[in-house]
Amino acid sequence: MEFSQAVFLPCQSSQVTVVGAGNVGRTLAQRLLEKNLADVVLLDIVPGLPQGIALDLTSAQGVEEGDSRILGTNDYEDTAGSSIVVITAGLARKPGMTREDLLLTNAQIVADAARNALRYSPEALFIVITNPLDVMTYLTWQVTGLPPQRVMGMAGVLDSSRLKTFIALHLGASPADISTLVLGGHGDLMLPLPRYCTVGGVPITELLPPEVIERLVERTRNGGAEVVKLLQTGGAYYAPAASACVMVEAILRDQSRLLPAAAYLQGEYGLEDLFLGVPCRLGCRGVADILEVNLSEGELGALHQSAQSVRQNIGLAQRHLRL
Ligand code: LAC
Repeated sequence: MEFSQAVFLPCQSSQVTVVGAGNVGRTLAQRLLEKNLADVVLLDIVPGLPQGIALDLTSAQGVEEGDSRILGTNDYEDTAGSSIVVITAGLARKPGMTREDLLLTNAQIVADAARNALRYSPEALFIVITNPLDVMTYLTWQVTGLPPQRVMGMAGVLDSSRLKTFIALHLGASPADISTLVLGGHGDLMLPLPRYCTVGGVPITELLPPEVIERLVERTRNGGAEVVKLLQTGGAYYAPAASACVMVEAILRDQSRLLPAAAYLQGEYGLEDLFLGVPCRLGCRGVADILEVNLSEGELGALHQSAQSVRQNIGLAQRHLRL
């Protein structure tokens, strides 16, 4: 019997570093292990925290009988040789806070994390989850000096998945039959695109009245805040971790998946020199391509408005970090 040419894990190492052992970081570590996707190094600055979580997750592997390993550490040296670094470190939102309220504190945390991680994993791709997402992704790219294809932010998968979920709940349909697209910054100005959302291939604009679509779109825009308000103690983490896991898998398995992610724009959609949510082709080299979908004048205007708000915050963060 001959094995096909396709190599199961085409990237050189399948070690993933997760920076930040908060709810998102630890849940992502758990998903990566349970899917046996990669060995995980979980890093946090709090002594004992990543080590404790790693020990607990290792014991869970004893039950799951998985082969992937996890190391918890406070030392970047232990992250050496990772093929992907996922940055989740930073403060989470409290009720009433916007993602932008976290800007300056998280800018410093993310810039430090990106520089330190790069020192030990110079070949790595970076996925940023810390908010405000599009700005933190830009800073990661700027301080690492990496080619933009190797840096991306996780938001589009999450926002699209929220829209998909709300459509599924409304219609009593299976999420498996629903495809959605959300562009723009990961904030109140994100741009869900009902025209490009389908159920079994049928656009939702043919299935639902405009006012219902508007309600589902609005709920998607506030999807993160709705969870923050209910939890009172922080933000969502199951869906963000699941979304990041899909991106890690697309990269490690070189799946060439078309997923929305915050990517560096160089003229696409008439925008340049910023990271913003757009459909990307993701594989083992990172963002292989950016897809430009046709937008109406109104949609393009909304995208530019979202970009403008991201750009302002990039400027604030850069001045704060003296970049
Ligand atoms: C959210 C956070 C991850 O949208 O921004 O839940």
